[in-house]
Amino acid sequence: MLSERTISLVKSTIPLLSGAGTAVTAHFYQRMFSHNPELKNIFNMTNQHTGKQQFALFNAIAAYATHIDNPQVLEQAIGRINHKHVSLNIQAKHYDIVGHHLIETLKELAPEQFTPDIEQAWREAYGFLADLFITQEEGLYRTVEQQPGGWRDGREFVITELVKESENVMSFYLKPCDGRAITRYQAGQFIAISVNPAASENTQIRQYSLSQAPKHDHYRISVKREGLVSTHLHQLHVGDTVTLYPPAGDFVLQAAANDKVFISAGVGITPMMAMLEQALAIESSAQLAFIHACVDESQHSFKHPIEQLAAQHSNLCKEVWYEHSDSGDKTGRIELQHSALSLPYEHGEFYLCGPTAFMAAVKQQLLALGVAPDRILYEVFGPHESL
Ligand code: HEM
Repeated sequence: MLSERTISLVKSTIPLLSGAGTAVTAHFYQRMFSHNPELKNIFNMTNQHTGKQQFALFNAIAAYATHIDNPQVLEQAIGRINHKHVSLNIQAKHYDIVGHHLIETLKELAPEQFTPDIEQAWREAYGFLADLFITQEEGLYRTVEQQPGGWRDGREFVITELVKESENVMSFYLKPCDGRAITRYQAGQFIAISVNPAASENTQIRQYSLSQAPKHDHYRISVKREGLVSTHLHQLHVGDTVTLYPPAGDFVLQAAANDKVFISAGVGITPMMAMLEQALAIESSAQLAFIHACVDESQHSFKHPIEQLAAQHSNLCKEVWYEHSDSGDKTGRIELQHSALSLPYEHGEFYLCGPTAFMAAVKQQLLALGVAPDRILYEVFGPHESL
């Protein structure tokens, strides 16, 4: 455990960190990528340009400094980061690199305040957190590796089928090139894909939700064409290969018996498809509702599969909100108080996925309608932001 003195010294640097704002993380990343350019193959350099990941890491460091004497407060956040890291194949050796550049950054930016005592306290504190992360992440690596069909590090998969789901979303069916089994996953989890787009000098890794309930011989992801990697993926053909890291993620279905409402916008529908299929496959009397929002019919992914499922299962109801068209069930942005569905606000589980602003707005509506915060579960694509 960390000593009282270490804890109080680290806490004393919180004003230093908050005062410097994102300058600390900006400097940190610049330093790390110039000394260890190999890490550009792991980090999402597009996020670096927008400053999003810098913000996420800064938040994590500040939160850690604030709660250093009570790490349970961070348990849920750390669990989520562990899944992200494992999916990206982050290794123990990377923690030394990050720790080194973090300490050097603090030294360079605040040479006077960052005294040898404080430096030592930060080394201990970072080492403590890094050990915790490394241990938990090793546990996750082992768990998936030891499952039937499990693996560790990259594994080659071939694209066996491409299906256009809407104007900008394409589903990729992926089978392992070695012909061996694949590990099962929990609906809601994601998989990382590693590619080398011609337009980039680095390998690029991105995480995509698995968009079906688990199948025995393939994975399916459904990708919206919107950035460097997704544009590259949309140019691939059946027979092309990609590298996949094993499934990970802690946004998964909760108790089977509970009523569930899945609320998504745009390509946020992907983990919801997997969750809905899995929830329908479980023998349970749970009532299920699927609410989806998108711009219009041309952007509506999985329209027909959802209609078919609703026709086949009496415990499933659905509603569609089109922003710019009146051909859906509703027009405009989702307003749950105007939904025609009777939703289980008092006891149900609510799963959200879509743009952050969308999820924040829906969460506010749910809270106002009496849903307890611990029954609202959500997944953020890209660096995590609190709603
Ligand atoms: C993502 C914290 C160590 C690489 C994240 C996120 C946080 C975080 C908060 C965002 C998670 C989310 O979006 O939900 C930390 C902390 C660390 C640490 C506190 C040290 C104790 C590392 C190491 C590496 C690494 C050693 C590898 C060199 C990444 C990458 C992402 C990420 C690649 C995904 C975002 C992106 O691509 O820009 N980390 N991390 N992290 N972390 Fe870490």
